[in-house]
Amino acid sequence: MNHFTKLNDFLASRQGTLKEYNEELSHVLKDLATASKIVNRDICRAGLVDGFIGAQGGQNIQGEEQQKLDVIADNAFISILEKGGAVCGIASEENEDFVAFKNPKSREGNYVVLFDPLDGSSNIDVNVSIGTIFSIYQRVSQKGELSTIEDMLQTGAQQVAAGYVLYGSSTMMVYTAGQGVHGFTLDPNTNDFYLSHQDMKMPEKGRYYAMNEGNVNECDPRIVDYIKYCQSRKNDYDSPYSGRYIGSLVADFHRNLIKGGIYIYPCTKEAPEGRLRLLYECNPLAFISEQAGGLSTDGTQRIMNIKPNKLHERIAFFTGSKSMVEKAMSFLK
Ligand code: AHG
Ligand code: MN
Ligand code: MN
Repeated sequence: MNHFTKLNDFLASRQGTLKEYNEELSHVLKDLATASKIVNRDICRAGLVDGFIGAQGGQNIQGEEQQKLDVIADNAFISILEKGGAVCGIASEENEDFVAFKNPKSREGNYVVLFDPLDGSSNIDVNVSIGTIFSIYQRVSQKGELSTIEDMLQTGAQQVAAGYVLYGSSTMMVYTAGQGVHGFTLDPNTNDFYLSHQDMKMPEKGRYYAMNEGNVNECDPRIVDYIKYCQSRKNDYDSPYSGRYIGSLVADFHRNLIKGGIYIYPCTKEAPEGRLRLLYECNPLAFISEQAGGLSTDGTQRIMNIKPNKLHERIAFFTGSKSMVEKAMSFLK
């Protein structure tokens, strides 16, 4: 494995390439990698250990049933980031309010992290790929003070870094700090992430579309027309695209990043504002998609231009290969 670069060495080599890209930001990314290894280990042995599989018995603020592993992952990320000292506060899917870290070291931290600790709740207990999604901002509050809601409600364009960890057939961490997209694979022998996917680029177009088609009668008829276009022979490949929907956003996004494709979660009758959360699902993936040459929109505007109003804001999400997202948008005009 000598010829592969370890995540920590790669981070060290990137420092100073952007003014925000400093030792402290590397520290945050390393802490996220550490927490993800803990979560990865827990996911891998979940079927063998009491207390890891099944529902927690409560709901999160969004009225969704929390799984035990949602809570385990949330705690792992919070505790590692709190101890790390580079982060002054966090917001997560599993917590109604953001958390301002009170210890003096964390108060000096320059960054906040917003995250979905475990994405793909319907797949957690069934051994199907799931993930963690994260978004990193510089704080706007005063260093030394407690973090504030303003730190959390920044527009996606302000992100200094974002990424995800995919707990799939292999475990990967993919991130961007605004200069391309870097993918690392976890070697289970050494428990280190190694650079396996350099400068990831999303193919300009592809033949995969991902949508929960159970909702097809519940959304804008123009979306239905686009799905029919994907399924027809009248598209740019003169043959139907393949439908692929895992139901874990991270996994669906990752496939499209590598193979080319589009992911759609429009507004539905059940979720009139959209299902996915702007701050810790859509913004980080939007940042990665753009850095990889793709596009992300809510149907009318660039995801990363949207000013959030609340932590758990939901939004319609179209993300993927540039020409496919543009084509989908042409149906919405
Ligand atoms: P989470 O498990 O973090 O709540 O996110 C689930 C999301 C996303 O991963 C997935 O693409 C989508 O919800 C699935 O929703 P449907 O079951 O409605 O298709
Ligand atoms: Mn999610
Ligand atoms: Mn989740």
